[in-house]
Amino acid sequence: MNIPSSTDPELISLLGLARQAALHAYAPYSGFRVGAALKLTSGEVVTGANVENVSYGLTICAERSALVQAVSLFGPAIRIEAVAVVNLNAAPSPPCGACRQVLAEFILPDAPVNFPSANGQRTMTFRELLPLAFEMNLK
Ligand code: THU
Repeated sequence: MNIPSSTDPELISLLGLARQAALHAYAPYSGFRVGAALKLTSGEVVTGANVENVSYGLTICAERSALVQAVSLFGPAIRIEAVAVVNLNAAPSPPCGACRQVLAEFILPDAPVNFPSANGQRTMTFRELLPLAFEMNLK
């Protein structure tokens, strides 16, 4: 998939779904509500929101929430071809390092990932976001 422009109807739709998901965020500790929408190669779109916990480190980000939902609904053969992330706080929020590593398992390297940056929504390919993902190659 090519990098979409901000007028691409597919990206606009994905961002809308991510925004709806963000409304379901459970973020009583940070107040930072995030939504993610994953477009699968099957054409399905799966969304997720961040779910926080009083034991802060147990918090699940929106991106991982969406990914777990996608595998749960459609099985382990899913592949992600595009990602949109939004937050309701008008703040930058590129996917965190943990989410990048988890996405790496299921995402196409050239998938566009659109996220809130300091200058509005920005798109990068997944391979740009995580150039050196951990892989387990046992000798
Ligand atoms: N968060 C996400 O859901 N996705 C991101 O890309 C960055 C951070 C969540 C985790 C936590 O609930 C809140 O935002 C503040 O870190």
